[in-house]
Amino acid sequence: QDIQPFYGAHQAGIVTPQPAAALFAAFDVVASDKDELVRLMRLLTDRFAFLMQGGVVKQVDRKLPPADSGLMGDKVFPDNLTMTVGVGASLFDDRFGLADERPRHLVTMTQFPNDALEEALCHGDLLIQICSNTAETNIHALRDVIKQTPDLLSLRWTMDGFLPPHTVKKLGRDTVRNLLGFKDGTANLDARDDHLMDRIVWVDGRDAEPAWAVGGSYQVVRKIRMLVERWDRTPLGEQETIIGRSKMDGAPLGQTGERTVPDYAADPNGDKVRLDAHIRLANPRTPETDANLILRRPYNFASGFTKAGQLDMGLLFVSFQANLAAGFLAVQSRLNGEPLEEYIKPVGGGYFFTLPGVSTPGRYLGQPLL
Ligand code: HEM
Repeated sequence: QDIQPFYGAHQAGIVTPQPAAALFAAFDVVASDKDELVRLMRLLTDRFAFLMQGGVVKQVDRKLPPADSGLMGDKVFPDNLTMTVGVGASLFDDRFGLADERPRHLVTMTQFPNDALEEALCHGDLLIQICSNTAETNIHALRDVIKQTPDLLSLRWTMDGFLPPHTVKKLGRDTVRNLLGFKDGTANLDARDDHLMDRIVWVDGRDAEPAWAVGGSYQVVRKIRMLVERWDRTPLGEQETIIGRSKMDGAPLGQTGERTVPDYAADPNGDKVRLDAHIRLANPRTPETDANLILRRPYNFASGFTKAGQLDMGLLFVSFQANLAAGFLAVQSRLNGEPLEEYIKPVGGGYFFTLPGVSTPGRYLGQPLL
């Protein structure tokens, strides 16, 4: 039936298997006070619950605008839709009296050495991650939200992502290829492993986070352009050295099998997987760096070409972690200066805190915070 449940301890769209299409929409909240923020959260809760479940939309009066955009015909169908809301550090400024409730690691994204961040593509008070089987379903959902919230939300940026549909139909840990042509997701965490997700992804009582945040997660979104013209003219051997894996089968260099765990202890000088290879810096697999694991949930993007005549495509890198500093920030700091940087340029995104889930009907997103 392709229905993803809306109600639960955690929001859908985090450990949910990735469907083929994604749409990230960041907003400035223009609600004037806390009561209005509550109205916004109730509204989002109602719309997410309905859109993810599907159903008939009745037109009550033909003199009024249509009750639904009509993009899905006369009945909204679920199409594997998940809508996931996160809040940015800026929501915890003076406007809503929430300054004391900011999740302790939630900060505004700052520039890393290789970044060329464009302000118009960064940050936001609120992020809605919309994922489903098709771009149309995502657009339908976004237009529904925008139609209902003109006095509450103002769009800041959007980013569209895709994965090859034939590879994502199968559930589980299938790996897709990113636009560098390498398998992406091979060594990702198994999102079906609840115990692992409790440890790595979900905020609990451990980190002295505000009580309302338990069940939420830090979300990183980074729009990373790939300089594919340059990449496509780079020798295969060099591409593989930069990543640390074989391009076709995804095996760690010097070993066989995509799922084989890289054996860095047997390769202390980086003769097989170089010490500065992407996978080795991202996860050196030492006891100390075990605390830096992250759940990745990236999408590819492609949107025409730049003014300089280069293809504008790359990776919408997305990760979830219970601790932003120990997770993404630690991993990215290790990656700073990696050889892959010659071929990639992060231009946008931000850090958000995905709210805990809504346990039962009648309750709303962000209720424990508000
Ligand atoms: C692994 C590509 C950005 C963290 C990989 C792999 C590829 C890849 C091909 C190996 C397959 C896999 O395990 O998924 C890229 C590209 C990027 C990018 C093309 C940019 C356009 C990032 C960023 C981070 C990151 C920004 C985090 C800050 C990781 C991690 C692994 C990984 C943690 C798994 C390493 C392991 O456990 O062996 N990446 N990546 N990647 N990447 Fe990236």
